[in-house]
Order: sequence, then C-alpha cells, then structure tokens
Amino acid sequence: MKKLSRVLLVACTVAAPMLYSATAAAQFAKPEDAIHYRQSALTVMATHFGRIGAIVKGERPFDAATVQADAALVASMSKLPWAAFGPGTQGGKARPEVWSDNAKFVQASQRLEGDVAKLQTAAQSGDIAQIRTAFGAVGASCKNCHDSFRAR
Ligand code: HEC
Repeated sequence: MKKLSRVLLVACTVAAPMLYSATAAAQFAKPEDAIHYRQSALTVMATHFGRIGAIVKGERPFDAATVQADAALVASMSKLPWAAFGPGTQGGKARPEVWSDNAKFVQASQRLEGDVAKLQTAAQSGDIAQIRTAFGAVGASCKNCHDSFRAR
C-alpha cells in the first residue's frame, strides 16, 4: 500500500506540469511569474539599449565591440517578453489593450524585433552614423508600443 501511494505521488507530480503545458500560458505556473519574467526581460533589454544610447549621445566613448555586444543582447532579449503576455496574465503596468487589441500588440512587438535586427547590422558595420540612425528607429518602436500598451 505504501508503495502504491508513492507511485501515485510520482504520477501526479509528473502529470501536473503536463497539464500546464497544455494551455497557452503554460510556461508559467502563476500570472505573477509571467509578469516578473517579462518585466525582467524588458529591464535587461532596456539596460543594454541604454548603454548604446550613452555612446550615441556621446556620453561614453565609441567602442565598436561594446556596441556589438550590447546590440546582440538587445536582440536576444527583444524576443523574450512577448510569450509572457499570454491569456490570464493581465497586470503589472500592461494596459488591458494588450489582450483586447492583441493583433496590434503583436505587430508592435514584431516591429521592434525588425528594428533591433537592423540595429545589430548597423553595430556590425562599426559606423557610428548608421548606429545612431538605427538606434533612433528602435527608440521609436519602444515608444510606439508604450504609447498604446503600457500604463504611465
Ligand atoms: C510590443 C510592445 C512593447 C515594446 C515594443 C516595448 N515595450 Fe517596454 N513595455 C511594454 C509593456 C506592456 C510594459 C509593461 C509590462 C508589465 O508591467 O507587465 C513594458 C515595460 C517596460 C519597462 C519596465 C519594466 C518593469 O520592470 O516594470 C521597461 C524598462 C521597458 N518596457 C523598456 C522598453 C524598451 C527600452 C523598449 C525598446 C527597446 C521597449 N520597452 C519596447 C511593451 C513594450
């Protein structure tokens, strides 16, 4: 009997995550986990984007390798937040429109990813003028989404 209950316990422990992954919000056990995850990814992305900004604004000396490394991190991080805005994860500073006008939100996230890819190409060119232009486009992409989807 003892042995059977241990088997049942193991079976339940294995089944629970499988049930979670059957739904869209799946990767996160609780909505708070999704909110924390997306805010963290956005914060790290913003940190590396800001470092490029300091160079573009002449506050830090231009160094091509540093810009390339920061642009690569911005590109990686820019792919992460969106999966954490799944159904039932309303909250944080996200406006309800993220869910009620989701197609537009997805479009805004794709625009960002496209602009970030161009920033990465510009970073690889090592040309500060190209980097500055691409940086401006990414900044406009951030603002475009925040204007509609982030609470002030
Ligand atoms: C597709 C929409 C979208 C794009 C594009 C976007 N953001 Fe956001 N951002 C949001 C939303 C929504 C929130 C609020 C998230 C929350 O609190 O759950 C947010 C929150 C943030 C936060 C606050 C995180 C926290 O800890 O509260 C920072 C920083 C941020 N964004 C920076 C940026 C930067 C920098 C860019 C561009 C490189 C950018 N975002 C692009 C939608 C976007």
